[in-house]
Amino acid sequence: MAADYQFRDEDVISPEVYGRISHPHEAFAWLRANDPLRYVEPEGFKPFWAVTKHADIIEVERQPELFCSEPRPILVPEATTPEVRAELIAQIFERLKDSPKLLEVLATSGQGGLIRSLVQMDAPDHPKYRALVQPWFKPANLKRLEERLEIITRNILDTMMGDGGERTLDFVQDVAVFHPLKMIVELLGVPEQDEWRILKLTNELFAGDDPEMRRTGADPLSIFETIKDLYEYFDRMTEERRVRPTEDLASYIANGKIDGNYMPFKELISYYIIVATAGHETTRTAMSGGLLALLRNPDQLAALRNDPAGLMKLAVEEMIRWSTPVSQFSRTATRDCQLRGKTIRAGDTLGLFYASANRDEEVFDEPDRFKVDRQPNRHIAFGMGPHMCLGNILARMELRIFYTQFLPRIEAIELAGEPDFLRASFVHGVKHLPLRFKLKRAA
Ligand code: HEM
Repeated sequence: MAADYQFRDEDVISPEVYGRISHPHEAFAWLRANDPLRYVEPEGFKPFWAVTKHADIIEVERQPELFCSEPRPILVPEATTPEVRAELIAQIFERLKDSPKLLEVLATSGQGGLIRSLVQMDAPDHPKYRALVQPWFKPANLKRLEERLEIITRNILDTMMGDGGERTLDFVQDVAVFHPLKMIVELLGVPEQDEWRILKLTNELFAGDDPEMRRTGADPLSIFETIKDLYEYFDRMTEERRVRPTEDLASYIANGKIDGNYMPFKELISYYIIVATAGHETTRTAMSGGLLALLRNPDQLAALRNDPAGLMKLAVEEMIRWSTPVSQFSRTATRDCQLRGKTIRAGDTLGLFYASANRDEEVFDEPDRFKVDRQPNRHIAFGMGPHMCLGNILARMELRIFYTQFLPRIEAIELAGEPDFLRASFVHGVKHLPLRFKLKRAA
């Protein structure tokens, strides 16, 4: 931490800060050392407690009755006055005016918005909804995908290799996007011709404050057109899967019953949306953030290439810790309580900063070093407790298979420019990673 560093509330959450310096590790280090549970009031956000210690995040996540997900599971910029909010809602209605189904969802949602997925739910709904697809994400089921993933990886690397000469490209947008995309398409049963559409809609949904990733660069409300497209797409998919169910995850979702009934429309479409989108930018970011770390730490790259069998599993965990693709989720206190000696009031929001927890010096030895042999590695990049990431085994498998095939094929590799970071403080990481490289054929 620079000696003259002065903490500002914006530093922990402002998308502009993340776009400029990536995860604000200096601010997090300052908070952990000086005020690990701090009440912050950044401009454009409702005030919240910044929870920066590993132990405190675990304590919060393990008490879902005391710290619940509704109504604010993620810290996003919010209208701060009722007038601004009323104006915003009027604009949203205007955007959706040619979609009666969505208008109805909006009209019956109160403060709830258009998406209610696992992330937004608490008990008793959350465990019932989660149980619907949980069997799909168990290792035994994913195992059968492994072979398919290996073929997909080989094809991606063959395309990346080109004719075997020296090439340059953007690793994030030209390579890392494909792996999770192909996986989700495979899992969900989205026809191959639609995969680019799903990718585009996902990018737009998680664009945050980044004009480059938005549907319409200068227009933050264009996200509602994205949501409308997602609703229409998955509404059609439901009709098809109810008439002709298959073995794919979309059929599970379309035909899944809660208390004996099909899911309500909003929850149903939100289910597809979370499954279709949660695994993209996250896995891509871990893959790209991992490569950036390997290139910036050539001794670690060499160590991993020398002993992939011994180190790959540990290296994958370290890539996930290092990149922490999901910066934060948040919870709301249901009653007055104490945390780290401070009084939290009912209704207060707590921002859980995983990227800070994953550099907590009380948990990690040399937390600011990237070490492919780190053991133990108790990172919480997948969260904790009842909401812990459903796709964590899949994400780990994707990274392991990709790097197991990629590293032995490298003849030469270097950065071809400076990386660029997403201007977003929810799902966050490398946006562009220019690479110069030469790959050889698969052995
Ligand atoms: C490296 C990649 C990934 C990271 C870092 C990541 C991270 C996270 C985090 C932090 C949460 C919230 C946990 C909490 O509140 O305690 C979460 C939830 C979730 N993730 Fe992931 N994720 C990744 C990949 C995936 C993949 C591949 C899928 C597959 C579709 C997926 C599906 C989900 C779902 C459905 C939830 C909601 C679970 C719930 O609320 O019950 N994720 N993820």
